[in-house]
Amino acid sequence: MQLSILKGLFALVIAAIAAGCGQQEVSYKNDVYPILKDNCFTCHDGKGEGSQASGFVLLTYDDLMKGTKYGQVVVKGDSASSTLYLMIDHKVDPTIQMPPHHDAPADGKMGPLSRDTIDTIKTWIDQGAKNN
Ligand code: HEC
Repeated sequence: MQLSILKGLFALVIAAIAAGCGQQEVSYKNDVYPILKDNCFTCHDGKGEGSQASGFVLLTYDDLMKGTKYGQVVVKGDSASSTLYLMIDHKVDPTIQMPPHHDAPADGKMGPLSRDTIDTIKTWIDQGAKNN
């Protein structure tokens, strides 16, 4: 009798540990912001061509969540519906992917984001796109 209770407890503890080992929470401030700063600010700082053309400014969390002049590009908890994610992960027409790199700029600085950085942003959105 007592042994089976112990076994039950043991299973619960294992389950709790396994759940805790899930994906770490992505931080806007520490993980997402630096990616946007390095890859998007040149054009989306309020003055650059990206923000001029689309109204999309990326300087702060509020700017980011506000989206473009047409509306939001981040849907909290749903990367598959978030234009921002779709654009960086090449799930849109190549002519509108971000950062723009379909025509390989001469200075060679611009290119697609790395798989890691794309996944970081995707996970952040799926975790609720928090201001954390
Ligand atoms: C070389 C300049 C440049 C860089 C770098 C850049 N963008 Fe853009 N972005 C643009 C331009 C130009 C537009 C407007 C495109 C249009 O309206 O056809 C735009 C538009 C957008 C839009 C709005 C699209 C729409 O349909 O309204 C999003 C979202 C976006 N960019 C996200 C990003 C993200 C995220 C990054 C960084 C990973 C980034 N951009 C980097 C130039 C840039």
